Amino acid sequence: MLSIENLHGCMRKPQDHVLIIFGASGDLTRRKLIPALIQLRRRKLLPDKFAILGVGRTEYDDNSFREKLFGDLKHIKGFPNEEEIEDFLAAAYYISINTSSPGEYGNVKNKLSDICKELVVPGNYIYYLATPPSLYEVIPLALTEQGLSRQNSEGWKRIIIEKPFGTDLQSARKLNELILKHFREDQVYRIDHYLGKETVQNIMVTRFSNGIFEPLWNRNFIHHVEITSAENLGIEGRGGYYDAAGALRDMVQNHLLQLVALIAMEPPAVNNSTSMRNEILKVFQALRPIPDGEISKNVIRGQYVASRVRGEEYKSYREENGVDPCSRTETYVALKIYIDNWRWGGVPFYIRTGKRLPTRVSEAVIHFHSTPHRLFNFSSGAINHDNQLVLRIQPDEGILLKIGMKVPGTGFNVQEVNMDFHYSDLNDTKLPEAYERLLLDCMNGDATLYSRGDAVNEAWRFIDPILKYWQQNPSDRLHGYPSGTWGPNIADNLIEGEGLSWRYPCKNLTNDGIYCEL
Ligand code: BG6
Repeated sequence: MLSIENLHGCMRKPQDHVLIIFGASGDLTRRKLIPALIQLRRRKLLPDKFAILGVGRTEYDDNSFREKLFGDLKHIKGFPNEEEIEDFLAAAYYISINTSSPGEYGNVKNKLSDICKELVVPGNYIYYLATPPSLYEVIPLALTEQGLSRQNSEGWKRIIIEKPFGTDLQSARKLNELILKHFREDQVYRIDHYLGKETVQNIMVTRFSNGIFEPLWNRNFIHHVEITSAENLGIEGRGGYYDAAGALRDMVQNHLLQLVALIAMEPPAVNNSTSMRNEILKVFQALRPIPDGEISKNVIRGQYVASRVRGEEYKSYREENGVDPCSRTETYVALKIYIDNWRWGGVPFYIRTGKRLPTRVSEAVIHFHSTPHRLFNFSSGAINHDNQLVLRIQPDEGILLKIGMKVPGTGFNVQEVNMDFHYSDLNDTKLPEAYERLLLDCMNGDATLYSRGDAVNEAWRFIDPILKYWQQNPSDRLHGYPSGTWGPNIADNLIEGEGLSWRYPCKNLTNDGIYCEL
């Protein structure tokens, strides 16, 4: 029986090391990193000798930092055992410095050497940059100045960098160059948390460990591919960041293009990080740039407007805190894209993402060609029937194949039925959090599920012209959509083919907003 325990059974315990978290008093540390570390500890996947050093401006000492973490953790569901948390926190340390000032990093070095002496840990360090991107320049430089970035006989050094990795092609290239002055590529781990999701990794497993899919996985059998990442939440107090980013930067450049890559990549020759990441890079290199003249048609952008959903009022994006009241930032984007290679020539990939949609769902749908000749009628009256393979990323993780079957009784009527697998049907249903897997991989020196610098640049190369076009043509169409709907209705026109449309995993909630031009 496949269970998460079995999955973890295959995982290696990392070498002893210290995890240094810059931005340790922040939200990411509290919500994702510390809970993931506790889970790894529970599963006995942390090394015997392991410490966390929090670094930040906020003034804590070791004890007050532990108290803060304890307070944060107590409220998390599933962490009731105070003793266990206390044990874990005993290996948490903190040093407060002005993180923008390279001169102060000597204190980090001294603290690290004290911890290593106290716990008898070698000088194996992971630096986690959970800080605002403005510090991405300073920290690597300061670490080099302290002799903390080069691998040496005292131990290995790795650096994890959170998104956003640049805001356009130029800034991403610059950031890559800068980091690579201080760390070699094989020391750098650029996080895209989608790659840490079990169901995203399962795309590769579905494709490359089953004989039945791969022969069909190409332009001869696939009509189009649809990828959706919908959120019912709005921007959740992140107006300052989001208004400068927008959905294209926030979700498409990274998460959704990674999904495209895993669906479209060639089978890697071997199961290692270089081979896998080479194939991902090739997909990004093959993305056909969208010419300026086609952006309005092939890239639909929207912004949520005020509406009332099931009697509850939702404010418009422009009324959110930290958002410019005249903002033209997109909270929804849908694109039609092509991958110019032999496998995918002519197959459209439709991708969409948005805030304040009717539900939270991420999925990829592979639409196979329908039969060349229609012999039987569909009981639904549909004119078109295509087999669909739905890779459900979240929630209700699983995989679903839609096929036509005979309606029992007289005649030959066909109805669509589902062959459906849910991860929740497994014995041990709790899927590990993305950060658990990603942290563990970095601890083990495996960068397969992290983005490589060249691939990040290539993804930006594709996105950049769209951003530039919007910047140079601010009055290009921005569609208002009422909160609780599936985004601008004009996005339906993107999908080509008689009777074809986006898959709607749930119906719209009733709302009384209006679609409009902004
Ligand atoms: C983050 C984006 O990277 O991903 C957020 O900045 C978004 O805006 C989030 O909400 C979505 O992640 P998930 O795992 O909830 O799909």
